[in-house]
Amino acid sequence: MSVAPESHFDCFIPISAATLARGTNYGVDIYARINASDAPILLCSADQQIPKEKLDAVSLNGKLLIHCDNRDRYQSFLRENYRDCIADECVPVADRVSILNDVIRDVLADQFANGTTESIVETCHTLGQDSVTILGSESVVPNELCKVLHHDYGTFTHSANVSAYAVLLARGLGYSKTDLEQIATGALLHDLGKLDISDQILNKPGKLTDAEFALIKKHPTTGLQRVGDRTDLNYGQLMMIYQHHERINGTGYPVGCSADEIHPWGKICAIVDVFEALTSHRPYRVPFTHPTAFAVLERGSGSEFDKEMLECWRQLLSL
Ligand SMILES: [Fe+2]
Repeated sequence: MSVAPESHFDCFIPISAATLARGTNYGVDIYARINASDAPILLCSADQQIPKEKLDAVSLNGKLLIHCDNRDRYQSFLRENYRDCIADECVPVADRVSILNDVIRDVLADQFANGTTESIVETCHTLGQDSVTILGSESVVPNELCKVLHHDYGTFTHSANVSAYAVLLARGLGYSKTDLEQIATGALLHDLGKLDISDQILNKPGKLTDAEFALIKKHPTTGLQRVGDRTDLNYGQLMMIYQHHERINGTGYPVGCSADEIHPWGKICAIVDVFEALTSHRPYRVPFTHPTAFAVLERGSGSEFDKEMLECWRQLLSL
């Protein structure tokens, strides 16, 4: 085994052992790190397959890593293989969810940066269905899901997480599998309008100016304008994009509509959108714990957020 050069310590990305356990390899060097402060150690070179006992030992006690220079190759491997993996019931649910989330974040990041609206929507249809393959039937709860999600505040990470949470909440509310797939897709697209806002404003650590906030408040409308004429998105999905910042008492935006004027899927999206934002890293604060984030939502129960949906979310969080 050889130790990675010290200058490369920060350039490693954790990967899931699940796909390797299926007898494949990524075609890249795989490293292991047992303790967080250790240097990564080369476990297996690109042309080899990891012996099962080595894989088991590292999976149990440490992390598998690849060098960030190999990120693209790793991602293309995942894109080609993730469907087999997420459908494989021998792979632990947490690993399947983790792999799917990695793929969704990666594909969304790529699509949001380079895709056309058409290709973004088509991609989100596929990813929404993939998401429900696992989250629609397995007994995944938000607390477990949270452990395998990433919590930086990139728009694509936020959208991937909101989608996963929306599926769990909608499943708890009794929606059908078809509805769950559409809700997953709608949630992936809910912040589409943010593509028209600069990262400088979206990630600004301090208080927004009135002009900047006015710009932010346009994103539900610009999002809807991007997709409003598409026949492959239903009304509920469009309202997830347009109404996820509306509040039951009429204090939201972009219109300030209230109560039954807000589509139920918009109300679902509102709850998980705020929950996800509070429980993720921001440049200016650490993530809220689940109980603290829920307490913030609960202050708006019945006034800003749907009371019954919020109660369902509380139960799913086991609070
Ligand atoms: Fe939003």
